[in-house]
Amino acid sequence: MKVLVTGGAGYIGSHTVVLLIEAGHEVVVFDNFCNASKESIRRVEKIVNQKITVVEGDIRSREELQKVFDVHTIDAVIHFAGLKAVGESVEKPFIYYDNNVHGSTVLFEVMAKNACKSIIFSSSATVYGDPHTTPILENFPTSATNPYGRSKLMVEEILRDVYVSDSEWKIVLLRYFNPVGAHKSGTIGEDPNGIPNNLMPFIAQTAVGKREYLSVFGDDYDTPDGTGVRDYIHVVDLADAHVKAVEKISNFNEVMTINLGTGKGYSVLEMVKAFEKASGRRVPYKIAPRRAGDIATCFADPSYAKEILGWVATRGVDEMCEDGWRWQMSNPMGYKS
Ligand code: NAD
Ligand code: WQD
Repeated sequence: MKVLVTGGAGYIGSHTVVLLIEAGHEVVVFDNFCNASKESIRRVEKIVNQKITVVEGDIRSREELQKVFDVHTIDAVIHFAGLKAVGESVEKPFIYYDNNVHGSTVLFEVMAKNACKSIIFSSSATVYGDPHTTPILENFPTSATNPYGRSKLMVEEILRDVYVSDSEWKIVLLRYFNPVGAHKSGTIGEDPNGIPNNLMPFIAQTAVGKREYLSVFGDDYDTPDGTGVRDYIHVVDLADAHVKAVEKISNFNEVMTINLGTGKGYSVLEMVKAFEKASGRRVPYKIAPRRAGDIATCFADPSYAKEILGWVATRGVDEMCEDGWRWQMSNPMGYKS
């Protein structure tokens, strides 16, 4: 298939492009590089040993998107492009709604105009808000506590409306839990700007000596060791689910909403320990106050993904940490290394 990958130069996108090409698909990457480096594309080209077709453009631009459809016959779109920093979204809601919501509607409109009606959308476990129980099933109530999460919910709803208006659309909403790790080669991985917001890149930067210590946000949650529990999922497992979704998309006759997680939760302190084991380095930490908006426990019931996509996550936390560490060690300054 020929797949347009918006945000294909980013963290999850770059790993997905590798797996798509390895599975024999053609890829067109569309990215404005607002949170990505062109070096990531060069590294992907090295892994797959071929040139990648890249169009530099913004999903908010009808003209830039139309140029892609003028030149390529696209079978399906995987839509990663978006902004993802929760805290920043609280400070800059306009930018988040403009980029994530308006940008997505422009993309869908251009797709429809060009009779391309198959889309896989990057949603997030954040749409479950503070779940009443775990593991989390796809039919749990949704809510959002910040503009980022609301932008994901809005796009989900928009896509449901699109389907109601035209049932020729094939729509898959993938709700990711906590993506971590990196490609085995250690040449592509997560490259956050400035101080990382997320746990794993912060741990990795502490292990490599870039940060003095990790602040553990709260040790008084109702969890076995008091620290927050999350469902960490290897980015390559996540990428694999996208390949499976794209290959099965033509069979779907309703909007598919699918959790992508491992089904297992690990606490902050368990992740620190796993990373120390993988890296052979110490990860100093201090207990700090809870972070606003955090919940105690979040992990998926991933059985629907198995049933519908034939997908299960196969990589455990040790492998997530080993691969994340290889990337961090080989690229202490990310793609600038
Ligand atoms: P990322 O920032 O690494 O990748 C996003 C890519 O989109 C970047 O390459 C960026 O340059 C590009 N982009 C952003 N706005 C654009 C625009 N207007 N036009 C064109 N390109 C644009 O993020 P990621 O971690 O790879 O996440 C990919 C998607 O998955 C995002 O939609 C994110 O919200 C979602 N998601 C991520 C996580 C996570 O923890 N990483 C969890 C759940 C969902
Ligand atoms: C994990 C755990 C923190 C940093 C976020 C987004 C979510 C999704 C994934 C996009 C929590 C603790 C963290 C630190 C810490 N992204 N922590 N010290 O909050 O589960 O989810 O990323 O869709 O929308 O909200 O992930 O990695 O930030 O935190 O103790 O320096 O680590 O309190 O328990 P989170 P995270």
